[in-house]
Amino acid sequence: MTTTVNILGSGAIGGLCAAGAQLSGTDYRLIPRAGSPALTHVELINGELLSLTPKQTEPDLCKSNHSDLLLIPLKVTQLKEALKSWRQQLSAHTPVVLLHNGMGGMELAEKYLPDNPVYLATTSHGALKIAPDTVRHTGKGETMLGLSPKHQANTPLNTSVAEILNRCIGPVTWREDIETALWQKLAVNCAINPLTALNNIPNGKLSDKSYLPTLEKVCKEVCKVAAACKVELDKHATLTLVLNVIARTAENFSSMHQDVINKRPTEIDGINGYIVRQAKKKGIDVPTNTLLFESIKSL
Ligand code: PAF
Repeated sequence: MTTTVNILGSGAIGGLCAAGAQLSGTDYRLIPRAGSPALTHVELINGELLSLTPKQTEPDLCKSNHSDLLLIPLKVTQLKEALKSWRQQLSAHTPVVLLHNGMGGMELAEKYLPDNPVYLATTSHGALKIAPDTVRHTGKGETMLGLSPKHQANTPLNTSVAEILNRCIGPVTWREDIETALWQKLAVNCAINPLTALNNIPNGKLSDKSYLPTLEKVCKEVCKVAAACKVELDKHATLTLVLNVIARTAENFSSMHQDVINKRPTEIDGINGYIVRQAKKKGIDVPTNTLLFESIKSL
């Protein structure tokens, strides 16, 4: 049976997934959110402009083809609405992959798709919307994939999901401990995203010595909260990871920087906001994350 990848949303990462599917000869649909313009082109990392040719038929995930995949590269703030409207259209067998910055998707999927196989993914590929219908691939990265811990019982270890995602946005590494990978990415986003947005700078400017104390404090706080949530992150390794991402994506503008510049809602609630909420529950003080959270909120 041929698998079609149904990509929900036409943001920067959705565009990369569509380009990857097309270049690997995988059937795909690109389903923009209501009111969003269709995505038609992706500028590849080598500068070539790819014209997207998704399937134009309506998806029928209810019954006909259970091997079809629903890939959701939406912001966590857009996820609730998407899951609410899609749950009627899904068979309980349709595998769903959530791919977003920040936390909170797993809990939403537990609520709205309790019976589906649900996978969580995180990527370090860089992408940017350069026009409403065009995405640019700005940096090669990798993608981590694993079973949602809340869906272990009904999620088989489906190697074809990893294989399909590998074609869309590879290389994909399977992670048994996907939660740790998500927390590591959360630390990266907590440190880089608000600082680049507030200071209107590309990621690489954060390698300036003056930012180091703030980066250190953010990482320390994230590690403390992670430990309280039973995820072990080493504070030195976390800071090293953040500094490596800053170096590797030096020319990029972070997604939060792009959101602020383009006056779009940011993902702050699922990033530093998530740390602030978890910290409150656990009685931990996180002044630096709180300040960054409030500063972005007040923009
Ligand atoms: O959100 C982003 O922009 C990216 O996740 C990252 C890794 C911070 C690189 O810009």
